Amino acid sequence: MQHTAAGPNKTSGMNHGRCTAVVGLQWGDEGKGKVVDLIAPAYDAVVRFNGGANAGHSVVVKGERYALHLMPSGILYPGKLAVIGNGVVVDPEVVLKEISGLNTRGVDTSGLVISDRAHVVMPYHKQEDELREATLTVMSATIGEAGAGDGGGGGAGVKSIGTTKRGIGPCYADKAQRASAVRMGDLLRPAVLRRKIEIACALKGPMLRGLGAQANPDAAGLTEWARRMGEQLRDAIKDTTYLLHDLRAQGKRVLFEGANATLLDVDHGTYPYVTSSSTTALGIPSGTGTPCSAISEIIGVVKAYSTRVGNGPLLTELLDETGDRIRDRGREYGTTTGRPRRVGWLDLVAVKYSVMLSGVTSLAVTLLDVLSGFDELKVATGYRFNGVVTDRFIPDGEVLSAAEPVYTTVPGFSADLTTARSMDELPVEARRYLDLIESFTGAEVGLVGVGPDREQTIRCA
Ligand code: GDP
Ligand code: IMO
Ligand code: MG
Repeated sequence: MQHTAAGPNKTSGMNHGRCTAVVGLQWGDEGKGKVVDLIAPAYDAVVRFNGGANAGHSVVVKGERYALHLMPSGILYPGKLAVIGNGVVVDPEVVLKEISGLNTRGVDTSGLVISDRAHVVMPYHKQEDELREATLTVMSATIGEAGAGDGGGGGAGVKSIGTTKRGIGPCYADKAQRASAVRMGDLLRPAVLRRKIEIACALKGPMLRGLGAQANPDAAGLTEWARRMGEQLRDAIKDTTYLLHDLRAQGKRVLFEGANATLLDVDHGTYPYVTSSSTTALGIPSGTGTPCSAISEIIGVVKAYSTRVGNGPLLTELLDETGDRIRDRGREYGTTTGRPRRVGWLDLVAVKYSVMLSGVTSLAVTLLDVLSGFDELKVATGYRFNGVVTDRFIPDGEVLSAAEPVYTTVPGFSADLTTARSMDELPVEARRYLDLIESFTGAEVGLVGVGPDREQTIRCA
């Protein structure tokens, strides 16, 4: 059909507000929360599009630390909309706890809006997550290496994923299964809610019992629990797709906050050692209903070294004193689970792949201050796989395990970076480290983090 100049084609977004995305380029915990908080003043809404309470985003303002799990990191600024999009899986208990925790600290949370189509993490999802992980751990002891060896994977065997046990995988699985899934809007429709939970319990009872649960889930109790959750969140549950379109149509600016990170992406990460959602900028359109063409700026957050929580390959892992030193200096303990994070040198092969996937337009390099005090630093700039050196990432957790990093060694720096506020104040070796990141990935560095606080940031001209 032909459209006239005044027809629908005319409104394809020319005057719509600018959208920016912030996504993690490694295995999570790159400092996305800090970057979002830092740039949020220029936006009218901050929007989560993926993941759930597996995320832990720390924001430090004048020494005060906030750990956010489902709340978008823009919540600390009054008057902004904080939107949880349809692609997120929402544990209502976590949301309510975050609301009351923030309110107690004087933070206004009235700008929170949750998509009526976001899926609800039910208590049985968390139970299933726990039981599956426990079963996989037992299987790894009994089957072990016997299950390995057929994908060039170098014998990974059976392993648990090392999930956060927040019910993420089981909830996304139910979303794909459909009949047994509960969405936020269902919490406000008692008859639908009762029917859906009854179906879910009938389907899940035998499976949970098979995994070791003592009893079937209690449909009546769960329905009552869900109804209470809905009652408390009623005012926040809305259609966020139209809300975001309307905001953009009014010229308002929207910031998308990625959770988890690229190498944990369910399609593009180190599968199966990944989370269950689309963690890159590619997840924004489906996770919010905002078209791809609306996103003009994509900031990739990269930690100056690597960390990973849970199982799966981390080729540059440091299992020695250097790793312990970086872990201590960077306070590398999970925001969500408190688990010590695995630590390694920066893997630029992985970062370059992540830049490519999301179409990153600039980089925020965080935790550069942590690398101070080493004579030299190593950076993976290639992988040796089957005797051949490549600069291409291998997006398969089993196959990747068989590769080895090829390092470039660069001079370290010893000055304390935490008070630097401009590039000129960084030692030349630190600037060269940033140059190497830029030249290898092809993306420019726009921000550099030199400490956890909002203020401890260098904005590159
Ligand atoms: P996220 O999940 O990507 O938001 O990252 P987390 O908040 O889980 O983990 C990043 C950690 O590093 C948090 O404790 C932050 O406060 C801290 N952090 C962020 N940027 C910097 C930085 O530039 N330097 C230092 N030393 N810490 C930082
Ligand atoms: P933020 O947003 C670090 C990891 C878990 C596990 C795997 C699957 O704070 O960067 P899941 O519970 O999602 O099924 O766990 O993914 N993981 C994260 N690691 N930061 C995160 O989020 C993560 N979200 C999930 O540790 O290995
Ligand atoms: Mg985190």
